[in-house]
Order: sequence, then C-alpha cells, then structure tokens
Amino acid sequence: MMTTDELIGLPPGVRAATTDTRNYFAALENFQRTFAFGQGDKVLLLTDPLLDTRVADAVMGLARARGATVRQYMESTSQVTEVPELVKALVADADFVVSTWFCSIFDPFFIAQRAAGQRWVKITYFRDLDLLHTPQARFPAELVGEIIRATAQRYPAGKDFTVKFSDVRGSDFSIDYTPEMRQLLQAGNRWRGKMFADEPGCYVHYLPTHGPNLWDRTAHRNDANAPVTMSGTLYPQWAVGFAKPFAEKIGCRFESDTIVEVTGESEEAVILREMLVGGRLIELGCGFNPKAPRHTIYPAGSNAPGALHFGIDLAKPSEYILRTMPQWEEPPVHMDLVTLDSTVQVDGQSLIDGGFLTALRDPAVRAAAEKFGNPIELLETAI
Ligand SMILES: [Fe+2]
Repeated sequence: MMTTDELIGLPPGVRAATTDTRNYFAALENFQRTFAFGQGDKVLLLTDPLLDTRVADAVMGLARARGATVRQYMESTSQVTEVPELVKALVADADFVVSTWFCSIFDPFFIAQRAAGQRWVKITYFRDLDLLHTPQARFPAELVGEIIRATAQRYPAGKDFTVKFSDVRGSDFSIDYTPEMRQLLQAGNRWRGKMFADEPGCYVHYLPTHGPNLWDRTAHRNDANAPVTMSGTLYPQWAVGFAKPFAEKIGCRFESDTIVEVTGESEEAVILREMLVGGRLIELGCGFNPKAPRHTIYPAGSNAPGALHFGIDLAKPSEYILRTMPQWEEPPVHMDLVTLDSTVQVDGQSLIDGGFLTALRDPAVRAAAEKFGNPIELLETAI
C-alpha cells in the first residue's frame, strides 16, 4: 500500500541538463533581437547601483560586436522621477537608450527624444542576468507580439466604446473611449506588437513580459490634465509591497482618474487609505507573456496574460513604502494595485475572462504559435 506522498500522477519533468543549453540559446535570441543595435549606433545606458553589472556588460558586449558604441550614466537610484538637467546632453547625443529609470516612459524630454526617432529599451524586468534562464525570457517574443495584436483588435475601430472591469469581489469600474483615444493609445510600437527596438521612436520592455497598457495618458496625447471618463470601484486582490493577497475586500473608488475613497477595516485597508486617497491612475497595465509567473507581483505587477496592474501616482510619498521597500525600483510616490482574476469587457465583448486573456485562443495567435511548437503548451501551460 502506497502512502499519498508516494503517488505520482504527473510526469516527473525533464532533467535540467537535457534542456538548459537549448533554453539558454532560445533566450539569447530574444535578447539579441530586442537590443537591435546597428553599426555606428551611439548607445546610452541609464542605470542605478542595484542593477546587476553583468546586465550592462551583456548589453555592452552585444553593442561592441555590432560596431555600436556605449556610454553609461549611473544615477544614485532607479527611482528617478525626472531627467536630471546634467544628463540631457548625454541623452540627446544617443541613438539608442537602455534604461532602468522610473521616469523613462513619461519624462517629456525622453518623449521628445523618441518622437525624434531615438529607440528605447526599458529593463525593469532585466535587472539580473540570471533572468535569461527563466521561461518568460525564452518564450518567443514575436509570439507575445501576436498576442498583443490580437488583443488590440478587440478594441473596436471607428466608434465610441466602454471598457468595463469586474470580478467576484464586486469591482465595477469603467473607462469610456473615443475613436481618437483608441488610435492614439494603439499607435506606438507596443500595441502594434513590435517587440524589438528596431524602429525609430520605439519603446520596448525587456524581458518581453510587460505589455502595452489598456489605458494610459498616451490616449490623451500625454496631457496629464485632459479629462478622462473613468469611474467606479476596484477591489484589488493585492499590491506591490504586501506579502500576501488581501484577505478583506478593499474598495478603491475612482472619480475620473483619481481615487477618492478607500473602504475596509483591515490593517492593509488603513495603510492603503492613507496611501491612495488623492492618487491618480497613470497606467493600467496588462500582462501578455504566457510564461510570466502569475503570482509574482514584485517589482511592478504580475505580467501573466490577463493579470492587471493599476499604476497609481500618489498625492504624497508613502511612509509605508519607504519602510517596506526602501530599495524598490519605483519611487515611494507610486503604487501598483493588482488583480489576477478580472473580467474585462470591451464594447460588450470579452477581452479577459476571469483572468484569462481571450486572445490566447484567437485563431491568428494559435496559428502563429504552431510555428514555434505546441500551441497549448506554449499558450496555456502556465508557470
Ligand atoms: Fe506597469
């Protein structure tokens, strides 16, 4: 008679030595194509002291092999909220920027550089060279692009529509879109599923996990004061800097992009009330890489397909964040609220169903996945 501990119903897995080298070279292919340096490119690394120096070395080695030149500027932290005046000349001289800095996406100077053609790779998810050994690093980046394109098409063209968020906790949050907002939001390389930094003005995340945002201020020409029709209550499951998902239903009520009320009695609710009231949504991020771990929400929200993070800029720096995560890659004026099980309806059609990104079953995505292996294994075997 066997004890339950001895029962083996699932295969034991393949010996690591059998797959390690193959896996590593699959990841290197994504790495080399993402960092699309060309001969003569002037590359600038914007880094911080907590970045694995082997990451900078890897980027420099690839650049040198291609005849590109590299400079590096290290700030005292990645929590930089605006480009330091002294650094502007270095940035202006570069063709290609690789950055760990928080302000990479929204600093007006950086936006202007990209508008003039500068290519960017943000490496929030590549802070340690050993990440090349993860399943999300070797998942075909082109296939992530295909999943993103299939998701983009679910935003209807040429009409007003609403994106509604709900879940079993009772979240009821919605954003209204105009055709112009859709066009502006999806114009960038990320929503076009372009995963490699090979087109002028691109902004690419590496590792290829953090997809484009379901909403952010690009839909309003980066005008922080343009009105946005957004309202309702979100009950996040979790947030960065908290060890466990919340036991209590904690409601965050929005009026436009601003949190006006946080309900709940638990210790976490008290912390979030102090932190979030007056804070504004700046990005509504969605994961797109089928091998990104669903329950890893540090440093900036899970990037599993259909996992959402609501990035909030706080009204004032949070003492809780300073105490809990003094070395966080993001500054203490930011917080990511996470849902792993949202249902998202776009114009009445399902974009995410209970945390499942419906694009994973799109015929175009299935067909693209066939080229890389078994579509079910690639798209639906989660980590
Ligand atoms: Fe994000």
